[in-house]
Amino acid sequence: MIDDIDQIKNEALEKIKSAKNESDILDLKGQLLGKQGLITSLLKKIPEVPIEDRPEFGKKINILKSIVSDKIDSQLASLKVSAKTGRIDSTLPARASWLGSRHPISALVDQIIHVFYGMGFEVASGPDIETEYYNFDALNTPDDHPSRDINDTFYIADGTLLRTQTSPVQIRVMEKQEPPVRIIAPGRCYRRDTIDASHHILFTQVEGLYVDKDVTLADLKGLLTIFAKRILGPEVKIRFRPHFFPFTEPSVEYDFSCMLCNMKGCSVCGYTGWVEISGAGMVDPAVFNEVGYDPDKWKGYAFGMGVERIAMIKYGINDIRLFLENDLRFLKQFHF
Ligand code: PHE
Repeated sequence: MIDDIDQIKNEALEKIKSAKNESDILDLKGQLLGKQGLITSLLKKIPEVPIEDRPEFGKKINILKSIVSDKIDSQLASLKVSAKTGRIDSTLPARASWLGSRHPISALVDQIIHVFYGMGFEVASGPDIETEYYNFDALNTPDDHPSRDINDTFYIADGTLLRTQTSPVQIRVMEKQEPPVRIIAPGRCYRRDTIDASHHILFTQVEGLYVDKDVTLADLKGLLTIFAKRILGPEVKIRFRPHFFPFTEPSVEYDFSCMLCNMKGCSVCGYTGWVEISGAGMVDPAVFNEVGYDPDKWKGYAFGMGVERIAMIKYGINDIRLFLENDLRFLKQFHF
């Protein structure tokens, strides 16, 4: 009879393990531990056991009872969990979770910083919410200049606005520091533009400023050429076009050759072979006067660059809006 107990235990555990749902297990509980249950009926058989074997027999049944009732409880709990979460197949291979990656614009800004850092530039920064003074006045921008228009600039209140360019960082740096100055200033800019494939109200610029004794426009062109080659490869060409900015004289706009179509013409370069990057020029003496630098002693060049524009040529993206839409199908293509 004592040997029967082991067999009953093995069979009971096997049944508990293969119970498929809550009601199966509750039925089983009744069959094993209920008033008429198998284990309970074993207890009733004690008088039939020879007197000397009774203590061991009783002990074994009690152990059996507690093992079986523990198993029933734990199986019941795990069936409840899997009923909530669905079946868990622990034999399936592990699923790698997607870690995300850097935004292509942040990654490109870091590359740009790295290139300029190698040429002796330090990184400076200024606030996105600027004053009219830094964004326009100190940059020699006349009161009636079109860029000040409420249709072009997001004004906040009391002479504050969302900066339309990173150029105010030039002023903030020169106010604090004596020449020579060699800085770049990456940051976001805001304009009330009509959004289309190549314009957005929110975009990224990297400003550059170099002030020293003998600085020329040729130096600027040399610097931007080396920069373009480091970012886009040795084949890229650069061109300057005469332009006007209130804070540089002379001023230029500059373009990089379109590396996407090899200058054959595509939608990114508007079928011209060239992509406009931004403006640049020699620092206007009026700006030096504003920050207390002697314009007879110091010369400087300044430039801006549109990071999204560079990213479009570098990665073959034909719509600037993609950078701000947080579409994972777009973002997942970049691994930095
Ligand atoms: N701030 C100008 C713009 O956003 C670009 C620029 C920067 C021009 C520095 C000259 C010098 O259009």
